[in-house]
Amino acid sequence: MAIGVLVLAAGSGSRLGASVPKAFVEVGGTTLLGYAVRAALSARNVGCVVVAAPADWVDAAIDVTEPLSRAYGIPVQVVPGGAERGDSVLAAVRWLPAECDLVLIHDAARAFATSALFDRVAAAVTADTPAVVPGEPVVDTIKTVDGNGFVVGTPNRALLRAVQTPQGFVRDVLLEAHAAYGSVATDDAGLVERLGRQVLVVAGESDAFKVTTPDDLARAHRLHPRDPSAP
Ligand code: C5P
Repeated sequence: MAIGVLVLAAGSGSRLGASVPKAFVEVGGTTLLGYAVRAALSARNVGCVVVAAPADWVDAAIDVTEPLSRAYGIPVQVVPGGAERGDSVLAAVRWLPAECDLVLIHDAARAFATSALFDRVAAAVTADTPAVVPGEPVVDTIKTVDGNGFVVGTPNRALLRAVQTPQGFVRDVLLEAHAAYGSVATDDAGLVERLGRQVLVVAGESDAFKVTTPDDLARAHRLHPRDPSAP
């Protein structure tokens, strides 16, 4: 089974306060996009990667991905993303070759997710379990609140998972979910859930943390002071 990976990199990353879109921020000499695409290309059975980049940054994304595509011998297509994350998914998914019947969707913001995580997610996708997400147990106690901040519930922490990407899908089920429930989604698996199909959570990893705030970026710099494969 050929796997197609969508790398979503079209967000502005306004919460990071950087002068470039988040995927183009460098850590240890490599952009977040570069880390994410390299992990995708290192995973098993990947036949194609499609990157959704901000419309003005398509050429910059090609500069990042072309050497990686050549090094791994796997095509990487860069396309302009959309206004919302779900629009970027739809813009990218149509470029996947027909033989890629399994799709992994990955946020470039989770740049340090390992290829082992891609493999674990992909291996768990089946016809009966058409959506698989990595997730980690939650350490904080979580409260649900009303509009005034009053607590209305305390979910059982043992049953909660903080989910990450890459998320894996049978391609046809992903397309059906997006067609049925629209493009506005922060989590594609949530759309498959709404279709009434099974979504499985497999073990995530701390490396797959999302770079959102300046604190997250500081953590990334601490963990990756210098990318050993950067020129
Ligand atoms: O904004 P947030 O960090 O939740 O975005 C998650 C991922 O989705 C990021 O990697 C971002 O680049 C991507 N994204 C996108 N197109 C958008 C918005 C976000 O590809 N319109």
